[in-house]
Amino acid sequence: MTETKKSEWNSNLAFMMAMIGSAVGLGNIWRFPNVLYSNGGGSFMIPYIISLFLLGISFVLVEYAVGFRFKKSLARILFSVNKKLEPVAWFILLVVFLITTYYVCVVGWDLIYIFLSLTKAWGANPDLYFTNNVLHVSNSWTGMFSLVPNVFVSVLIIWFLAWFIIKRDLNDGIGKVSKILLPLLCAIVVVIVVFSLTLPGASVGYTQIFRPDWSALTNLNVWLAAFGQIVFSLSLGMAIAMTYASYLPEGSKLVDNAVIVAFSNSGFEVFNSIGIFSILGFMTFTSGIPFNELVTSGTGLAFVVFPQVFNTMGPAASIIGPLFFICILFAGITSVIALLEGVCYSISEKFLIERKKTATVVCIVGFLISTIFATDAGSIILGVFDAYLNNFSLLLAVLMECIIFGWIYKFDNLIETLNENSKLQVGKTWKTVIKYILPICIGGLWIQGVFTTITTADIFSRTIMTILTVILIVVPIIFAKLPAINKDYYNV
Ligand code: PFF
Repeated sequence: MTETKKSEWNSNLAFMMAMIGSAVGLGNIWRFPNVLYSNGGGSFMIPYIISLFLLGISFVLVEYAVGFRFKKSLARILFSVNKKLEPVAWFILLVVFLITTYYVCVVGWDLIYIFLSLTKAWGANPDLYFTNNVLHVSNSWTGMFSLVPNVFVSVLIIWFLAWFIIKRDLNDGIGKVSKILLPLLCAIVVVIVVFSLTLPGASVGYTQIFRPDWSALTNLNVWLAAFGQIVFSLSLGMAIAMTYASYLPEGSKLVDNAVIVAFSNSGFEVFNSIGIFSILGFMTFTSGIPFNELVTSGTGLAFVVFPQVFNTMGPAASIIGPLFFICILFAGITSVIALLEGVCYSISEKFLIERKKTATVVCIVGFLISTIFATDAGSIILGVFDAYLNNFSLLLAVLMECIIFGWIYKFDNLIETLNENSKLQVGKTWKTVIKYILPICIGGLWIQGVFTTITTADIFSRTIMTILTVILIVVPIIFAKLPAINKDYYNV
């Protein structure tokens, strides 16, 4: 059997919306404000902007150029570069898939909170509510056998939505959904930010963003934090940009597109954090709780601190509360479908399975894995997955992609591809960044990540990490060894 017809974006707008939608996610909403605050406030913008150019735009360009030039899935691209590299592709895709399984669960928690926020059903103590009614925290193995029904149902709904979108044709599914959800998301964020600026005490919060701590710039960890945020926020190394760019028609302006996507993503997170900080400023003003105790990240910010704020806000909270959680839902869904697309593409290209069937199988397996996070031990396991996959595996993926495309593949081909139709041009500086600067910076970040992950892990976490390591070695090898049904797969 040979290959089926290739998908192609029907407009540049669909591609851009899907790209921005893939980047704008939970990381922008709840990760960025905390990273910004704990790394020097206003002065953090310097390492952040440098990282945006040096790492963000540079690496997105590699992914664009590779995807556009090869017009193939990641697995087939690495096979074409060197047959021995195919397991690396399946490793990257497995990391992405496993990240998706827990990311979906967090989006599922958010879905629950959309409904809770309508009546502030979390009560007077949102912290306790989150721990007892959503997480059911237990770090014993037996906790894995007891399902949390509401989380289970919402995880099922999110997987169903993801399946419903990606099983469709590219433009009818991902393209259309991104074109609808992204503008809605931006509109909601504008409403939240404008409203938050009118709150008493808002200036206590947003001035923190503009108050620089210049001494932070001499701290290496601040630079690593900026790099880490860019990797996470732009979804680097996850084969998303590569996959989406492979669906672009001839003549597309790659460099110009990459710059717009990267700026939109960063613009979104900086703008959104003005709202988050203002709301936290309001909380400090009304409750007297010190600002630094409120600025947390992740689930703590969204599902504990924000419900606390909504409790003190009065009637406006019944509008702003649901809007805030809907915003996270939209941002999450456009990221989930992007994470899945690259995985599905490689599987369907190698094994010649049609789009709908691949999406169905991938989503069912993903859902089954996600149920682990919908158990009493779920939130603890989720934390371990997050630390291991983000700090360790994902950075390794970015590092390997830099080395493969910077050193093993003929890099000048990529420069030629990028410059072909774009107004903005790349050259020697970009080459130096990808070949030397990026691997050194990512390597530093990776060593720091490995160190933190290992030193903070207890026995329970180490066991899960060992299991993950075995899976991440064995499964990619199996996938690479399985013979391709698509005979064109071997045409390099
Ligand atoms: N860039 C998206 C976000 O900021 O949420 C998507 C994403 C990034 C998903 C990193 C998962 C991840 F590990």
